[in-house]
Amino acid sequence: LVGAVDQGTSSTRFLVFNAKTAELITYHQVEVTQLFPNEGWVEEDPMEILNTVYECIDKTVQSLTQMNIPTHCIKAIGITNQRETTVVWDKNTGQPLHHAIVWCDNRTQTTVDQLIAKTPNKSQDYLRQYCGLPISTYFSAVKLRWLLDNRADVRRAVDEGTALFGTVDSWLLWNMTGGTNGGKHITDITNASRTMLCNIRTQKWDKELLEFFDIPDYVLPEIRSSAENYGNMTEGTLKGVPLSGCLGDQHAALVGQTCFKPGDAKNTYGTGCFLLQNTGKKAVMSRHGLLTTVAYKLGKDEPTFYALEGSVAVTGGLVRWLRDNLGIIKESADIEELAQTVSGSGDVVFVPAFSGLYAPHWRPDARGTVCGITQWTTKAHIAYAALEAVCFQTREIIEAMQQDALDAESEQHSSSTLQVDGGMTNNKLLMQLQADILGCTVLKPSMPETTALGAAMAAGKACGIWNLDPDQLTSVTFERFHPSVHEDDIAKRYRMWKLAVEKSKGWHFAANS
Ligand code: G3P
Repeated sequence: LVGAVDQGTSSTRFLVFNAKTAELITYHQVEVTQLFPNEGWVEEDPMEILNTVYECIDKTVQSLTQMNIPTHCIKAIGITNQRETTVVWDKNTGQPLHHAIVWCDNRTQTTVDQLIAKTPNKSQDYLRQYCGLPISTYFSAVKLRWLLDNRADVRRAVDEGTALFGTVDSWLLWNMTGGTNGGKHITDITNASRTMLCNIRTQKWDKELLEFFDIPDYVLPEIRSSAENYGNMTEGTLKGVPLSGCLGDQHAALVGQTCFKPGDAKNTYGTGCFLLQNTGKKAVMSRHGLLTTVAYKLGKDEPTFYALEGSVAVTGGLVRWLRDNLGIIKESADIEELAQTVSGSGDVVFVPAFSGLYAPHWRPDARGTVCGITQWTTKAHIAYAALEAVCFQTREIIEAMQQDALDAESEQHSSSTLQVDGGMTNNKLLMQLQADILGCTVLKPSMPETTALGAAMAAGKACGIWNLDPDQLTSVTFERFHPSVHEDDIAKRYRMWKLAVEKSKGWHFAANS
């Protein structure tokens, strides 16, 4: 058996898989508290994140015991995590110096503006040549810069050499391999490639990028491959088990969906939505608003694979907002039943640009916009429009990928199917809408935990107990959703979506001028 910690934005899980069949044996999940101390700010408590990991491990082990499965059957553990979320802690006390600044937090807009002003061509794309990413509130270096500029205790600890920086994988690996008693300060290349400090070609921390952000290299973790033995668990019910797989969650899902060939793509529907397409051993630069990122490197001596990524900030987060802020549903899953009570959105379009728009627009000044409300609009229409928003955003990403492929005169854009995963794919209405809005078949694996599966596969590979042959995943079958409506109807709705997106742009400036 192989275990996987899946530390996502909304929840933490620990799952156990059979390394021969990829069958999910058991798991436990705990929701993570999100803190919103100011408008646009999103934080999480790193200690709570760590405790949820241990809690999930303990509960999963209890359930294995009830199934008469001894814990020594777990031979390795992989970690997969929300990416970009930034943690800084004191290496002597093990205490965080600040709450984790979550990836979708946009407090750093002023920092972003200052950084863009520093570039020779005043362009948010200036650093793409090094790290594949635009200068945006999304990435870790900008969040770390903000902490250095705005939190005196972080600044002091960095100056005194007692601070360590990491994304959530680093925070967990350091703690789980010993913490203040010799914990390993490491990260994997997929997570490093999301910081803006790592050169995606050399796969090392880049001197020019560190200079640009004015960040000292001694606070950074060591960059490792995504599948190797990082150290053993030093505490808890799984003490002694090797931690041997580590990937950012979207990269893990690519592995879990066995998207190993150039052109293979998957879309994961979580708090946000992330569509990654494998581009092989070549780092392809996007001209249409996508990110260039490391896909995976499954072993110290294995080649590095790259991906193009379309990142959408708000998808599942919109459902959570309808639940927690508007109270129009009790549980997230209720959105499907509510939306099904109407036959469409009633011409309502909802652009959930809560923290600006990510790919392909990269417009931090956009804000959430609902268009087309009439006196007949009900909460069911809003729910329907929220689901459509997820699908339209995915369509924009696919179109950007098609444009990039056309520019490169590549055939990789011509896929007639989309592999999907993530919590929201349990919503059948959403999956059908996605097939309709894309005009292609949507393939949903019978085992939706492909993110955790990818981390388990990496960990198992490093320990020599998991062969990555896709044919080995015998327990995984696919449910298919075929397009079922006329293209003209979709074209009209997509035009309305585009119009609403234009209306969402600039709202932040209008509100603050
Ligand atoms: O880049 C952010 C992403 O890794 C978060 O994923 O699944 O927690 O929404 P998720």
